[in-house]
Amino acid sequence: MIGVFDSGVGGLTVLEALAAELPAEHFVYLGDTARLPYGTKSAETVVRYALQATEALMRYRLKCLVIACNTASAVSLPAIRARIVNVPVIGVIEPGAEAACAASRTGRIAVIATEGTVRGAAYQQGIRRRRADAQVTAVAAPLFVALAEEGLCEGPIAEAVAHHYLDPLFAVPRPPDTLVLGCTHFPMLMRAIRAAVGTQVTIVDSAQTTARHVRRTLTESALAAAGGRGSLRLLATDAPQRFARVGARFLERPIEAHEVELIDL
Ligand code: DGL
Repeated sequence: MIGVFDSGVGGLTVLEALAAELPAEHFVYLGDTARLPYGTKSAETVVRYALQATEALMRYRLKCLVIACNTASAVSLPAIRARIVNVPVIGVIEPGAEAACAASRTGRIAVIATEGTVRGAAYQQGIRRRRADAQVTAVAAPLFVALAEEGLCEGPIAEAVAHHYLDPLFAVPRPPDTLVLGCTHFPMLMRAIRAAVGTQVTIVDSAQTTARHVRRTLTESALAAAGGRGSLRLLATDAPQRFARVGARFLERPIEAHEVELIDL
């Protein structure tokens, strides 16, 4: 079983990419909907929540744990890795940073994320570690989270918000050539984001790059499923109905409320 953890439904974008990359694997996804959002909370609180979620997921005898939440990946990976030493733990930040460095010609890279991810500076460090000359600009774009959950991913409101966050980064003389979507929710707004930055910018979706990274890790450690059909188990810490309704848009397939198991951490 592969465990996937997020603060709520946003990580279903990562799960979708994982299931497409690894169709024979069995997944258990935990959304901590009772305590969402993580993006505005202190690092100490996010680490505490992430460790509790890790304990809950470890009951499923995991062979790999994916931290789909960018905010949790940014601040809690060392603590989680120290807690579960025998299971590979993969966050979304390092694969995203690697893809950004590979994509950028100029070294000017923009990152949009939650407040907590920007403050934690993990993307900035991950990029500079690989490319010392990189000029990284990271800004928080919290309204994108609300828009994605409301289903307002296209149209005038999404476009206005995209311009609000992205014009100061891109409507400048020497703009970045690469933009990292450093939050689970942001791939949902791809069209509005693309329209705001134009066609010349490479957009790095950390969900896709993480899925490829997980496949590589499983293959290299001979842990990948040999074949057959995969499965998905959904867990939430609050409001399974809402999880099913909002989550269906993120997963791009219907979810019945009874498919979502309510758990306490
Ligand atoms: N999952 C979070 C992230 O990727 C976004 C939502 C939240 O703030 O909890 O950073």
